[in-house]
Amino acid sequence: MNRPVPANDLSEVVEADRAHLWHHLTQHKPFETMDPRVIVEGKGMRVWDAKGKEFLDAVSGGVWTVNVGYGRESIAKAVYEQLLTMNYFANSAGSIPGSIFAKRLIEKMPGMSRVYYTNSGSEANEKAFKMIRQIAHKRYGGKKHKILYRDRDYHGSTLAAMSAGGQDERNMQYGPFAPGFVRVPHCLEYRRQDGAPVENYGEWAADQIEKVILAEGPDTVGGLCLEPVTAGGGVITPPEGYWDRVQEICRKYEILLHIDEVVCGIGRTGTWFGYQHYGIKPDFVTMAKGVASGYAAIACCVTTEAVFEMFKDDASDPMNYFRDISTFGGCTAGPAAAIENMRIIEDEGLIENTVKMGARTMANLHALMDKHRVIGDVRGKGLFCGAELVADRATKEPMDEKKVQAVVADCAAQGVIIGATNRSLPGMNNTLCLSPALIATSDDIDQITGAIDKALTKVFG
Ligand SMILES: Cc1ncc(COP(=O)(O)O)c(C=O)c1O
Repeated sequence: MNRPVPANDLSEVVEADRAHLWHHLTQHKPFETMDPRVIVEGKGMRVWDAKGKEFLDAVSGGVWTVNVGYGRESIAKAVYEQLLTMNYFANSAGSIPGSIFAKRLIEKMPGMSRVYYTNSGSEANEKAFKMIRQIAHKRYGGKKHKILYRDRDYHGSTLAAMSAGGQDERNMQYGPFAPGFVRVPHCLEYRRQDGAPVENYGEWAADQIEKVILAEGPDTVGGLCLEPVTAGGGVITPPEGYWDRVQEICRKYEILLHIDEVVCGIGRTGTWFGYQHYGIKPDFVTMAKGVASGYAAIACCVTTEAVFEMFKDDASDPMNYFRDISTFGGCTAGPAAAIENMRIIEDEGLIENTVKMGARTMANLHALMDKHRVIGDVRGKGLFCGAELVADRATKEPMDEKKVQAVVADCAAQGVIIGATNRSLPGMNNTLCLSPALIATSDDIDQITGAIDKALTKVFG
């Protein structure tokens, strides 16, 4: 593909970056001797850096966000027109795109009914935590306030979200964390816990949640927050039987189920939402990244009508509503972009494409696993896939992180941007991650896995 706009001299931009920018999740020392990566353009599946190098982006903007691909004029126009008409008013009042997107979104989420707008995944999760806490105070004298979260899951970078963070390396040096968040075991079958059975692992893993609830006291536990497919914790698809049992446990102990769809939401796994693969009925669903594919900042905390009702049952009580505000939850660019993003996904059949291309990605990764002993496990759902690298298949000793990063770097040198779990779990940042835009073609998928094939050969022989 031709570069859409001719290269200009961007040395000033690169120097300003080096001098003044603080990049996310990045050690800056290397930039004393080499240039930081500056991405200047994107079109479809491809991006170009400041030097004019073209990359096929297999991670949708680095963190699984640009679901409909780059350079969408119709989204830009929708945002432009909305900004000229009405850019902002606090969400204590409604807006045209805010109402319309809420309606369209709820049509995709049978059983859910209310949308609370925020500006990031972390913030959306914080809203759900606050609602669970307020329900505990309103209904249970503050006692049923604990929120369970799972080992290896991630829910954001703010301190309460990190208190619900199951990634110890991410959390290191940022404590102490907020009280009232309690960890339950992960459900990664490949790394089955000591004593876990080979048969019915899914049910067993869910039963471990019940054990934690019983140990804490069911009357103290108000919510359970889980990713449908764990993302940065290693692309963990749930084992058979897991979710049915989780749902049963939540019902049994009257625990509100909060599904974090920040990554999986809006088509990523081949359904509108990841939880819809498993027949779950959540009380809260949070989402962010793919909602507007990064064309504007928008995140949502969606609840059932039953949850919503609890915040309006006594209008005479001045404390009896959700006393929360998100300034940028009132930006109209987010829902304006989200409406058009959703239209594109529907009109272009991108969910169906995700199912097809996801199957191709998994087939290609399994073929690589047959060829390269360093791949210990392949996991995925839709266009969200991972390959866990190990030093030894028999012992499952995780591959040295530097070598995992060398694979990522070699793919980039070949012009393909892939990801890997990063500073998430001590000694366990060994899973390559793929999450291309939902517009990916067979050729794109083959180019991505072809680059991984070459990189694995180069790094491991
Ligand atoms: C599952 C999950 N939840 C929440 C978040 C936090 O979202 P944000 O970075 O928009 O705050 C992330 C970010 O990667 C995530 O992967």
